Amino acid sequence: MKKLSIIVLISGNGSNLQSIIDAIESGQINGQITAVISNQADAYGLERAKKHNIDQRVISHKDFTSRENFDLALTEALTHLDPDIIVLAGFMRVLGSALIQAFDRRILNIHPSLLPNYKGLNTFQRAIDNQESEHGVSIHIVTSELDNGPVIVRGRYSILTDDKISDLQAKGHQLEHRMYPQVLQWLSQGDLKINADAIMFQGKLLESSIELENR
Ligand code: GAR
Repeated sequence: MKKLSIIVLISGNGSNLQSIIDAIESGQINGQITAVISNQADAYGLERAKKHNIDQRVISHKDFTSRENFDLALTEALTHLDPDIIVLAGFMRVLGSALIQAFDRRILNIHPSLLPNYKGLNTFQRAIDNQESEHGVSIHIVTSELDNGPVIVRGRYSILTDDKISDLQAKGHQLEHRMYPQVLQWLSQGDLKINADAIMFQGKLLESSIELENR
């Protein structure tokens, strides 16, 4: 089977990127990261890419006078690379609808909440403030509505009474580092198919998101 060609977009640390690199190197994902693109020149994730000889580029939003022009530059780079899938892994820019449409249903995002709950920023603080008993992580298809596209997989964890933001972050990251590798493995094996009008999982229509198994 052909290798899944993946582009990873980052803005910072890139621990999710690392989990994908590791899963490719261990053979879990039959794929290849063709480029890592960051909108921040000092993102540590770029170092991670360099260490593994992966093409890494910076397209900084600060170099453009408008959001549209930044999106155009990014669209051009992505079009040229023509990946099977674009993975947002801690990419902290909202993409415009023209870019999203150009790669319709080929962009995935990982979001630190159990979507559709807690879209947007500061999800940990908001969950703690609301005295939630659980929180989690979702991987979804990117559509032009922020954090609102179809959810493929969700992983959940408990919030304990004394948990702080850093505790939730750590629990979330632990799940995240299993989640992108899992979804990309499914995609690379043909278990998961994201079609124009439906998501198919293991031959069946995916009607509600997959729950990540607890370990
Ligand atoms: C991840 O925890 C991801 O859920 C979050 O950024 C972090 C990046 O970590 N994404 C968002 O908040 C998107 N709205 P990483 O750079 O170590 O992979």
